[in-house]
Amino acid sequence: MNTLISFIKRKVFRINRDRWNYQYEKGLWDGLKALDELARFSVIVGYVKFLKPGQPDVLEIGCGEGLLQQRLQTQNYGRYVGTDISDLAIQKAANDAGDTKCRYLVADMDTYKPEGQFDLIIFNEVIYYSKHPLKTLQRLATFLKPGGLLIVTINDHKHSAKLWTDIKDGFPLLDETTTLTSKGTCVCKVLRGN
Ligand SMILES: C[S@@+](CC[C@H](N)C(=O)[O-])C[C@H]1O[C@@H](n2cnc3c(N)ncnc32)[C@H](O)[C@@H]1O
Repeated sequence: MNTLISFIKRKVFRINRDRWNYQYEKGLWDGLKALDELARFSVIVGYVKFLKPGQPDVLEIGCGEGLLQQRLQTQNYGRYVGTDISDLAIQKAANDAGDTKCRYLVADMDTYKPEGQFDLIIFNEVIYYSKHPLKTLQRLATFLKPGGLLIVTINDHKHSAKLWTDIKDGFPLLDETTTLTSKGTCVCKVLRGN
């Protein structure tokens, strides 16, 4: 019965949270932990440490199972808030966090209103799941502290060029890095938020 209800929610009503929960439950995103994803995470960790040394307040949108926070390590942030639409992913992230400076929340980026302000807001392979990517970036950028930065990664795919063009019009670029791994190409951009 539960399987049928889950199927109807995912396939008939196309409820986002149920679709993502299903994919995490089936292990379809386990590949994010693999070696060929290391470069993508490492570039973000490098930017965080270089651009906001010390203890920045970090918000990660669409954090999945918390892989970035684990790679960043507790000494490199003052406060870390990770959000994702999948409660299954968030539960796993919270269980693995082992850190009182870190908070994980279930939230849809299209409606989420953060508490407080952040030095960095990170969208790591997630912005293209927003209904309105540019609007979402613009709305969430209002929760940046003065001088705050957005870090956005987008894997190369047929819609990525258009997405970057839209984003370019909204935010000045501070820096960018392209990584090429056995899996594919990923662009990471650091954008000035205000
Ligand atoms: C490709 S995964 C990337 C996960 C993580 N950022 C990483 O790189 O390991 C995309 C993530 O976006 C989340 N997501 C999709 N739509 C979302 C939404 N509307 N609001 C918040 N998170 C969303 C999914 O649950 C999933 O965890």
